[in-house]
Amino acid sequence: MQTGDNGGREQWGSRFGFIMAAAGSAVGLGNIWGFPFQAGSNGGGAFLILYLIFIAVFGLSVVMAEMTMGRMTRLNPAGAFRKLGGGGWPLVGYMGVFTGFVILSFYIVIAGWTIAYMWFMLSGVLATPDAEALTSTFTGLIGSGANPIVLAAIFMTLTAGVVIGGIGRGIERASKVLMPLLFLLLIVMALRAVTLDGAAEGIRFFLVPDWSKVTGATVTAALGQAFFSLSLGMGALITYGSYLNKQVSIPSSAAIVVGLDTSVAVLAGFMVLPAVFAYGLNPGEGPGLSFITLPAVFAEMPAGTLFGFMFFALLFVAALTSAVSLLEVVVTFLVDETKFGRKAATIGASLVCFLLGIPSSLSQGAAAINVFGMSFLDAMVWLSFNLLLPLGGLFTALFVGWKLAQRAVEAAAAEGRTFALGGAWLFVLRFIAPIGIAWVLIKGLGIL
Ligand code: PHE
Repeated sequence: MQTGDNGGREQWGSRFGFIMAAAGSAVGLGNIWGFPFQAGSNGGGAFLILYLIFIAVFGLSVVMAEMTMGRMTRLNPAGAFRKLGGGGWPLVGYMGVFTGFVILSFYIVIAGWTIAYMWFMLSGVLATPDAEALTSTFTGLIGSGANPIVLAAIFMTLTAGVVIGGIGRGIERASKVLMPLLFLLLIVMALRAVTLDGAAEGIRFFLVPDWSKVTGATVTAALGQAFFSLSLGMGALITYGSYLNKQVSIPSSAAIVVGLDTSVAVLAGFMVLPAVFAYGLNPGEGPGLSFITLPAVFAEMPAGTLFGFMFFALLFVAALTSAVSLLEVVVTFLVDETKFGRKAATIGASLVCFLLGIPSSLSQGAAAINVFGMSFLDAMVWLSFNLLLPLGGLFTALFVGWKLAQRAVEAAAAEGRTFALGGAWLFVLRFIAPIGIAWVLIKGLGIL
C-alpha cells in the first residue's frame, strides 16, 4: 500500500491498476446486457452512432472532469465539491452518493439473476430453443419472491467483500485479475458469434443505421446509456480519482478507460446481435434479450452450454467490478465525512442497498410494487438514466468548466507536464456538454 502526500490516504499501486479499476467500474451490465438490447430496440446502427457521438463529445470530457476533481481534493464527491466550490455545490456530491444507492439497489438484483443463469446453463434447464419455455424460466426466476432476493444478497456480500479489502488490496487486486479475464471471454464470444452462419445480417443491422427508428426517446436513451456506461454523473470517478497519485496523466488514462468501455459495448453488440439474427430471432426484445433470446441461441449452437456459461460468467464479472465502484462511492463518502471506519461503512451501506433492492426484486412478478406507472425496478432505472446521471454530469461539466477552469487544466496533466488540449476541453465543458445534456434532459422529461 502506498501512502504519500495526503496524510495517509491510500493510493492505487500503479497506473495500470487504476485503469483496470476505472475500466472495471465502467464496463458492467450497462455494456453487456444493456447496450445490445438498447441497440436492438432502437434502430441498430443509428443507436450505435448516437452513442459514439455522445461518448466522444460529452463522455470523455466529463470523465476527465470527474477524475481531476477527485485527484485535486483527494476527497469523496460531496467533500470535493465543498472544498473546491463551497456554497450549494456539495449538493451535487450528495446527489451522487444518493444515486450510488439507487443504482446499486437494482444492480444487485439483475446481477443476482446472472448467478442463477450460470447454474441454469450447467443444469440444462435452458437447453431448449423454445421461446415459451425460456420465457417461463426467466419470469419464473425473477417473479419467484425469495430466490432472487437471496441471489441479490449473495451478490451484495461478494461486492462488500472486495470493498472491505480497500483500494489496493481489495479493488485494485480484484480488477487486475477480473478485467483481463473479461476481455478474453468477450473476444472469444464475439469471434464465435460473428462466424456463425447467417451472422452477416446481424452485423449489417448493427452497423448500418436505420434512421426511421430514431425518435426523441432514442436520443435520450443513447445519452443515458453513454452516462451509465461510463459510470458518469454520480462521482464514481471523483472517488476513484481521489486515490490517484500526481504522476499519472489524467487525459491519457481517461482516454484509455473510455476506449475500453466503448470497445466492450461494441464487442458486446458484435457478440449478441449477429447471434440473434443467425438464429432468426427478434433483436427488439428489450431487457429479456440476454436472458430469454440468447439462451435460445446457445441451445442451438455447437458447444452452446460452454458458451452460454461463459456469457453469464462474463456478465457476472462485469457486474461485480461495477458494483464495487458504486459501493466505494458511498463508503469513501462515509469514511471521509463521518466517524465510521471502512468496515462499518461497507457493512452499513451494503445493508441499506440490499433493503432498497428488495422492492425492486419483488416488483418483477412477486408483488405489484409500482411507481410512476412502472415497476419499482424500472422506476429506479428510469430515475438514474434519465434524471440523476445526466443532471450530475451537467453540473460537473459546468463546475469544472467555469469554476475551476484553468486550475483544472493544470491539475489534469501529470506532475511537471502540461495538457496541450486544455482549451478545447474547457470549451466542451463550458458550452457543448451543458447545452447538449440540458437539451436531451429536457426532451427526455417531456418538458418541451
Ligand atoms: N458503468 C456501469 C455499467 O455499465 C454502471 C455504473 C454506473 C457503475 C454508475 C458505477 C457508476 O454497468
